[in-house]
Amino acid sequence: MASWNYIQPVEIRFGAGLVNKIDEFAKELGVENGLLVADKFFMSNGLAQKIVDSSNGALTAAFGDVSPNPDVTEIDACAELIRQNKHGFVVALGGGSALDAAKAAASVCMTNDSISVYHGTGVALPPEHLPLIAVPTTSGTGSEVTKVSVVTNHAIGKKCPINSMNFYPTLAVVDPELTYSCPPKVTAGCGIDVLCHAVEGFWSKNHQPICDAVALEACRLVFKYLYRAYENPNDVEAREKMAEASVMAGLAFTIPLTTGSHACSFPLTNIHGIPHGEACGITLDYFARINAKDAEVGPRMNEFAQNLGFKDMLEMADAIHDLKASMGLRNGLKDLNLTEEQIADLCRISVHPNLRNNPVYITDEMLDEMYHYLASQN
Ligand SMILES: NC(=O)c1ccc[n+]([C@@H]2O[C@H](COP(=O)([O-])OP(=O)(O)OC[C@H]3O[C@@H](n4cnc5c(N)ncnc54)[C@H](O)[C@@H]3O)[C@@H](O)[C@H]2O)c1
Ligand SMILES: [Zn+2]
Repeated sequence: MASWNYIQPVEIRFGAGLVNKIDEFAKELGVENGLLVADKFFMSNGLAQKIVDSSNGALTAAFGDVSPNPDVTEIDACAELIRQNKHGFVVALGGGSALDAAKAAASVCMTNDSISVYHGTGVALPPEHLPLIAVPTTSGTGSEVTKVSVVTNHAIGKKCPINSMNFYPTLAVVDPELTYSCPPKVTAGCGIDVLCHAVEGFWSKNHQPICDAVALEACRLVFKYLYRAYENPNDVEAREKMAEASVMAGLAFTIPLTTGSHACSFPLTNIHGIPHGEACGITLDYFARINAKDAEVGPRMNEFAQNLGFKDMLEMADAIHDLKASMGLRNGLKDLNLTEEQIADLCRISVHPNLRNNPVYITDEMLDEMYHYLASQN
């Protein structure tokens, strides 16, 4: 008999131009003296300053020192600024990196600790946190609705997610117009991340009916609109539908959690610098073929694929492969000329808790075979 829990504490506002209403949202939440945490792109193109200026005093400072795959030191610096200025709330503007950094900073600022204390250590963050308004500018991570913050400690080569109920933003403000400036390569990689969240959430060992339903719709939208958004950054409908897909896929995975492709993405990003979405996508069709063969999960995955118009999961895996290739994304690691030692490192670091959410148990031998195969593919 099925048994499951569902919770979704984030209020979501979706619509073009909503980024200009931060002052109204702050008033509704009854918060003041806010800090804007913004991606560098928006610090340099002037939008961050414009948002502060038009906030009618609700935002009093901006922090833009956030890199892709944010480092523990950046989160600590942001938390220290929040403590010093006694900020009352945080607005996060950017891709998953800025959102995750702000989520972690808005929590850890309530302690005197470094985020490192909670990073991959199993130590739980205290429940207090500052109200946070998350404004995504990529259609990718779904971080605006998730309880996950993916943090990197570059000094010791560790990238892993921190899960905490107090990472759920207070409000997600999804304004698809913010994604128009994403370059095609970012659109492509982030869009494949959406697909990974949806597919992995669906086949995760912890999947459940509500997340399953949004996963299917998110996948349908990706197959229909991602290539269009990649090809024409100003395709209003495609941008809007991908923004929808991204939020839905966030909802699809935040409870079931991701699986093999995300586990393998961490070393691919950390060691080889492959952007998150592209790194996740490299193994998605490979895991799809493994999971499709399983007697228990296979039929469920075939039905999922059939609902999306494919003959079965194997045909869907081919379509994922071709979609990546059509957008110039990697389907292999051949150009890296990986040594046996490097392949062994990828295998070792991929054994991460997310790998254990994969419905089929992935052995060391299976990882070794997969990375050798990928090392021979473009
Ligand atoms: N919290 C979660 O639930 C979750 C889920 C998946 C991944 N992640 C994490 O999120 C991070 C990746 O986030 P991402 O894929 O959104 O990319 P990102 O935030 O790292 O941004 C990628 C690049 O795109 C630029 N950019 C972002 N928005 C732009 C825009 N509108 N116009 C022009 N340039 C823009 C950034 O400046 C950056 O150079 C990784 O650390 C990943 O592990 C988090
Ligand atoms: Zn992801």
